[in-house]
Amino acid sequence: MRIVVLTGAGISAESGVPTFRGSDGLWEGHRVEDVATPEGYERDPDAVLAFYDARRRAVASTHPNPAHRALARLEGAIGDRLLVVTQNVDDLHERAGTRNLVHMHGELRRARCLACDARPDWDDDLRDRPRCPRCGERMLRPDVVWFGEMPYGLDRIEQAVVACDVFVSIGTSGEVYPAAGYVALAAAFGARTVELNLEPSDPAVPLDDVRAGRAGELVPAWVEEVLARR
Ligand code: APR
Repeated sequence: MRIVVLTGAGISAESGVPTFRGSDGLWEGHRVEDVATPEGYERDPDAVLAFYDARRRAVASTHPNPAHRALARLEGAIGDRLLVVTQNVDDLHERAGTRNLVHMHGELRRARCLACDARPDWDDDLRDRPRCPRCGERMLRPDVVWFGEMPYGLDRIEQAVVACDVFVSIGTSGEVYPAAGYVALAAAFGARTVELNLEPSDPAVPLDDVRAGRAGELVPAWVEEVLARR
């Protein structure tokens, strides 16, 4: 059985990483246009670099929760027949042990050089303009995908989505494309579709199994069901 799991900010909420779409429409007190677009970066690079430096530091002090760990357990049982596609820029899936993983919106712990396009691992602040380890220029930005930019791994993701038997969406509001379109694509190719989210989202197609609740409870329970059925 081939499974694709799509995760969003909701899977990391119980680890203490805030979700994006708070009731005030702001992300950590900032307008999304200011901190998550190329235009916002051009307008005020210092503010944007400082914003992601703060996010990187905050995530470093969090830990994977039972939902991340359950997905790693599932990969331990079925190997690369599970692909986890995450919209999250934190590293909680990999710290839980997931290896077959696509970070479609990039990673906080990676930088990208605007001079030579290197994408080095990065754990330090970027706001003091460190040099690129490859070309030496001081043009590193966070390797996160902003609105208007191309997500990573789309070919690999689409191949897995059309070939999967089960597609599971966890902790995502389903408002941002292309990720939000994968559940309909999976359904069109015959997959069973499952949603595990705090509140039901508003998907483009009716899903086969919608469960409302906290990821830390729903995901381990769902993984146990899958493992028991094998
Ligand atoms: N368990 C399960 N689901 C939860 C939990 C929880 N403990 N807490 C919140 N949620 C759900 C919310 O109900 C919401 O539907 O997680 C979802 C989070 O939605 P968003 O904040 O919109 O995050 P996400 O879907 O990941 O956003 C997608 O948008 O801002 C961009 O690039 C950014 O990757 C991000 C993308």
